[in-house]
Amino acid sequence: MKKFFDRLKHLLVLYLNRINLNRLYANCISINKNDLSQITEALVIKVILFLITMMVNLSFSQDFFSPDKNLKLSISLNEKGEFFYAIDFRNRAVIKPSKIGFDLIRTEHLNNNFEILKIEENEIYEKWSPVWGEVDTIINHCNAVTFYLKQKSTERFLNIQFRIFNDGLGFRYEFPRQENLKYFIIAEENSEFAMTGNHITFWIPGDYDSQEYTYTTSRFSEINALKGRHFDYIITKSIPGENFVQTPLMIKTDEGLYINIHESALIDYPAMYLKVNKENFVLSTHLCPDAYGNKAYLQTPFNTPWRTIIVSDKAEKILESKIILNLNEPTKFEDVSWIKPKKYIGIWWSLHVGKESWNYADIDNIRINRIDYDTLKPNGRHGATTENAKRYIDFAAKHGFDAVLIEGWNIGWEDWFGNWKENVFDFVTPYPDFNVEEVSRYAKEKGVELIMHHETSSSVTNYERRMNEAFEFLKKYNYTTIKTGYVGPIIPRGEHHDGQWMINHYIRVLEKAEKEKICIASHESVRLTGLHRTYPNWLAAEAARGNEFNAWSEGNPPEHETILIFTRLIGGPMDYTPGIFQIKMDYYSEERKNFQVHTTLSKQLALYVVLYSPFQMAADLPENYERFPDAFQFIKDVPVDWKKTKVLFAEPGDYIVTARKDKNSDNWFIGAITDENSREFNIKLDFLDNAKYEATIYRDSENAHWQKNPMSYKIEKKVVDNKSTLKIKLVEGGGCAISLKKIKN
Ligand code: NOJ
Ligand code: CA
Repeated sequence: MKKFFDRLKHLLVLYLNRINLNRLYANCISINKNDLSQITEALVIKVILFLITMMVNLSFSQDFFSPDKNLKLSISLNEKGEFFYAIDFRNRAVIKPSKIGFDLIRTEHLNNNFEILKIEENEIYEKWSPVWGEVDTIINHCNAVTFYLKQKSTERFLNIQFRIFNDGLGFRYEFPRQENLKYFIIAEENSEFAMTGNHITFWIPGDYDSQEYTYTTSRFSEINALKGRHFDYIITKSIPGENFVQTPLMIKTDEGLYINIHESALIDYPAMYLKVNKENFVLSTHLCPDAYGNKAYLQTPFNTPWRTIIVSDKAEKILESKIILNLNEPTKFEDVSWIKPKKYIGIWWSLHVGKESWNYADIDNIRINRIDYDTLKPNGRHGATTENAKRYIDFAAKHGFDAVLIEGWNIGWEDWFGNWKENVFDFVTPYPDFNVEEVSRYAKEKGVELIMHHETSSSVTNYERRMNEAFEFLKKYNYTTIKTGYVGPIIPRGEHHDGQWMINHYIRVLEKAEKEKICIASHESVRLTGLHRTYPNWLAAEAARGNEFNAWSEGNPPEHETILIFTRLIGGPMDYTPGIFQIKMDYYSEERKNFQVHTTLSKQLALYVVLYSPFQMAADLPENYERFPDAFQFIKDVPVDWKKTKVLFAEPGDYIVTARKDKNSDNWFIGAITDENSREFNIKLDFLDNAKYEATIYRDSENAHWQKNPMSYKIEKKVVDNKSTLKIKLVEGGGCAISLKKIKN
């Protein structure tokens, strides 16, 4: 027998030499042909079996599992050297065998001719605490598998790393440093997600410049991104074709599987959209192009963002998944103590409802470096005056808000929009009626932070040029946060909001802000990909259709927020600006008689719990809150940082019921929202500590209705404990908010 194995060993070495491999890898065990002592008999058998399989199939296939074994990743390589991955969840196919690869500019593509040089596996288990978040502790538990690929024809190397979690999977491409690939340009990424059928999906058009659409619910085969709902309201739009959709894309199968596809850690690379094949339901990546139509300019070593697939048979679990955050790098910030979640108010809604204006004068052709504002006739409606700012600061101080946002404080708003103008704002010159020094002094005296507004009008070259000065200015006046804005088409002209150049810009702003201890909330930026783990000063982004649309357009349908939570919010918090009490816009002017917020007042309260954000606005006017002080109490009470989160009931497009425990007390808060249908829920309070709680229930009154009677609510108090069940009823377009304050003995 010994002789037989020696002979086999000899043959094996000969074979290894003949096929000229330095190392042969099978089942994660490496053999160095120069070190024969490594070769045990068991290994010889294993390798020979492997080689036989290779020769029979001319291919490779192997399965890998999540820690709980529910999620299976199957990898295969066909005879053309194309690499496929497939995913099963509890023995049900989620993703059928799907290809990966890249088209490159002016060099051979990286789609086939691969061989697997090595497979590396390891289990990751870590616990970490986010600076702020929906929970105070996150567990990152997964199995990592990396395939080291070589493209035989070009001697180029590409690694693919998978992380298999119990609730989904992420994979990314890793281009190692190498001789034959140093600088290269991506023409397209060819990652596929081959779906198992014509599933239902909740989509908005794949647009290089905007995510401010309402969602359409349809089968894959019915997607038409060029005829999305309320399409005409979006001014800056660049949609490559009818079958392109945005991520996070939420999908539901007829068998009741929930699937969410997105990306994680988008750095130095364009945002990804999905191109939907409406016949075979294969989704494939489409990256945002630059002015030349190229996608990404890369230099090895380089890792792409992760492509993520969250899967569950329970919709609630999709919302509780931490895959996207776990795939981001831990922060490198040495000091994070200055980063604080914020509840804020602002000179803002008054501008959107047309009561006040951003601009100081009503002229439409100015040059900020040549105009003397003191000589202009003020329009009498300018919102950001010293006096008005002080009124907001007083209101914030009185009701315990952290900060005040003031928009329209700086010169340039007269012709800021729609002119693709480069020298649009300077970010350092206030209008004559805004005394920044006095406002800053007053805010400090009242213990209220100030939020700077940097609307760039998408003239990003101008912003970058002026950034140092702009930051010096805001530091001088004690601003703690910047709300950035990117309305309109980008300058450099030809670039897009989601392209590699802009992705790098957003990161440059975050890094600059970190140096100055400033937080960022970005509007019209790229959507989030969990980067707030790495950059915890990125408190929120808008990057979707916010409440503002209800002020000046046909707005957001009652189902809107129930879909947002399953789509845009999967990547991170949104500055949605909830809390509108005055629902109908005819209150402000006759010309807005058809505009309204498409919820009840109670649902606006519930949004503070269901729509997670550490940067949460009480968006309505102070005078409107004064009309409803009892309902306003909920906004004053609700925290913006949480210890625990439980999604109790959820269904995309229909309803969400979420319970969260305050990070800084033992109090719990519940938010429940519904679409245009009324619903009832029985909420078991079994998550409460063993104590009595005072429940304050802010609910729709019996005859409330988002359209017919939206501002009618009732407030009830009850003593409850963890054996209690609360029965709540939401009317059409309604909601319910509950605070549960622990009763101290
Ligand atoms: C759009 C933003 O979403 C909004 O919040 C802001 O007020 C306007 N742009 C003006 O910058
Ligand atoms: Ca916006």
